[in-house]
Amino acid sequence: MAIIINKDIFTIQTKNSTYQMKVDKYDVLLHAYYGEKTDNSDKSLLYYQADRGFSGNPYPIGKYDRAYSLDSLPQEYSGFGTGDYRITALRAQNMDGSQVVAWKYAGYGIEKGKYAIPGLPAVYAEKEEAQTLIIQLKDIDTGLEAFLYYGVLEELDIITRTVKITNQGKSDVILQKAASLQLDWEYGDFELLSFYGRHNMEMNIQRQAIHHGIQSIGSVRGISSHQYNPFVMLCEKDAKETMGSCYGFSLMYSGEFLIEVEKDQIDRTRLLCGIHSDNFQWILQSKESLWLPEVIMTYSQNGIANVSKNMHTIIREHVCRGIWKKKRRPILINNWEATYFKFTGDVLINIAKEAAKLGLELFVMDDGWFGKREDDNTGLGDWIPNEKKLGCTLKELSQKIISQGIAFGIWIEPEGISEDSDLYRAHPEWAVKIPNRKPCLSRNQLVLDFSRKDVQDYMIETISNVIKESSATYIKWDFNRAICDKFSNCLAADKQGEFSHRYVLGLYRVLEKLTSVFPEVLFEGCGGGGGRFDAGMMYYTPQIWGSDNTDAIERLSIQYGASFGYPISAMGTHISAVPNHQTGRITPLSTRACMAMAGTFGYELDIATLTAEQKQEIKKQIAIFKKYYSLIQFGDYYRISSPLEGNCTVWEFADPEGKEALISVVYHHVQANSIPVRAKVYGLKDNAMYQLSLQKYNEKQPEKLPYGFHFGEVISGIALRQIGFVVPNAVDDFQAWQIYIKEKRP
Ligand code: GLA
Repeated sequence: MAIIINKDIFTIQTKNSTYQMKVDKYDVLLHAYYGEKTDNSDKSLLYYQADRGFSGNPYPIGKYDRAYSLDSLPQEYSGFGTGDYRITALRAQNMDGSQVVAWKYAGYGIEKGKYAIPGLPAVYAEKEEAQTLIIQLKDIDTGLEAFLYYGVLEELDIITRTVKITNQGKSDVILQKAASLQLDWEYGDFELLSFYGRHNMEMNIQRQAIHHGIQSIGSVRGISSHQYNPFVMLCEKDAKETMGSCYGFSLMYSGEFLIEVEKDQIDRTRLLCGIHSDNFQWILQSKESLWLPEVIMTYSQNGIANVSKNMHTIIREHVCRGIWKKKRRPILINNWEATYFKFTGDVLINIAKEAAKLGLELFVMDDGWFGKREDDNTGLGDWIPNEKKLGCTLKELSQKIISQGIAFGIWIEPEGISEDSDLYRAHPEWAVKIPNRKPCLSRNQLVLDFSRKDVQDYMIETISNVIKESSATYIKWDFNRAICDKFSNCLAADKQGEFSHRYVLGLYRVLEKLTSVFPEVLFEGCGGGGGRFDAGMMYYTPQIWGSDNTDAIERLSIQYGASFGYPISAMGTHISAVPNHQTGRITPLSTRACMAMAGTFGYELDIATLTAEQKQEIKKQIAIFKKYYSLIQFGDYYRISSPLEGNCTVWEFADPEGKEALISVVYHHVQANSIPVRAKVYGLKDNAMYQLSLQKYNEKQPEKLPYGFHFGEVISGIALRQIGFVVPNAVDDFQAWQIYIKEKRP
């Protein structure tokens, strides 16, 4: 039993962690513990309570208690306005204008299996894999209720959280803030790991001590954004990859989010995750409910790597859905960086033909195939093939491509609308903008109002037609701007604060419909690269284009950052041309392949212009990827050395049973008299023996390396874990190696 209830104490046990709550004498639900696995005894007895000046005390039930204050007790889900002055989980305005919510415990329930959330993505599991605990809180005066949901996947060390807010009162309640998760710590000296960035340079890691005051990251951009990612870790100060106490939190939401941490007057820490409160105001009428987005939570006392591993497993196995979850993804070629907008049907057919010859499996026609779209100023919204440009119908083009022996995929941006489009001319009211004001343009485009049901229905039909007509087995769902001028013609004036969340719900509805009507189609998410790289999107799109920056060296840090919270199987990665289009850098083809193999693996260049030698190498790369894909897509991933330190980045894919592993090494630049880089290998069996071999990409690669390990020797798993091996040195800038490690039976 993962959920244990002992009178007023609720304990959740996972394989390696324990979570506890307690209902106190005032019927307040206190948070008692989350951390290393322990027993079920009452951890709230370890609280230190004292009479603290200016921290008020609730009206006494019996004896007045100056040591009891909501301001200093760890709570499970805080209300507002009744004496807890820290950042708060929920803020609401009642009909009399008062801004107060005072939660009291009102009951609980336990269910077999994992709860689902209507209209929102959520972790799923078989009935026997999970349990759900539901705790009911009530504001006695207004009838506002909160149902706190805990989904427990015991074996995976995962607890999911969400909240359903219900108005059982007679009058409306205006929600002004509603977090999905609150976590209070009675102790701890934490650091926050978060990920910031910009277009073309996403997922930079930042680690900062939690100081007194409030630290927050979030997005008010309508999308989860390139700027901050809705995944964070909280670690103890000494925590490293393989040691120390760490927590991970992934908000499954693709819209505006807020993650806040506060260290208070007595050094206690509070974390909140949920929808951003800035653009949020939700009117709950009598008997109405609002479900909040889910947060996936995990804890490990054995370091950051374990938190990453738990997040990888849960997202790969219990968030991503559909047939592509278990199948090798097709090796694709996308024409974007090969042609941009300048192509004809014949140009595309030629790329597809050459690609098929080399063994590529899917051709993706990117932007520019529809309406009058010759550049990024026009045409969005008109999802009608430009037959003049293609030289034939969409059906004919896709048939010509498929007949080359390669599948057909297509790029769309359903949420975008150009002013210069037939759709805009027919439905200007469908664009997001505020009446009588000029909207802010971005990439010279507007946003289609996905909060509207008629727009959602129109897009479901339109995109369904595109998929049917083109026989596409892959869709790249892009979105190339952030949202502002937030307003919907379908919402009353007092409901405009619901726009941002309704937009995301609309997006999810369209994606749910399309992915269920076309279960065989692989959907890849994209938001100008990683603008919507979040676990919410991964529920619909098991892979997401990681960044518009395709430079192999820049991708080292983007993909390193992403690996903290997201599985390798979700990272869209391509080999592109050199000099690289974003940076001008020239890297070897083998290095680009090594980088692209830390993801879904594909190509984005004009294959027809490559030399015979390069084409040979591509054939070889494809064979190598096929050989290792199960390690890459389903294996355990370890960061061995960071791109932010030292001269090379090293990572590993290990078979979960410890029979084999693949180590990838990318040098940043060649150094004279360099210091050897030692790779400790994780996930092997201590008692087994292993042989190491160097993966060759091309004939130019030396058989024997001037420095480094002597391949062919047999080493024990324990030695590889404890001491590691010296990775081959670089003889050139940006050189990459892959070292394959296989168990050798006597
Ligand atoms: C975005 C995507 C690119 C490409 C272009 C097309 O920037 O991230 O991969 O599809 O749009 O306009």
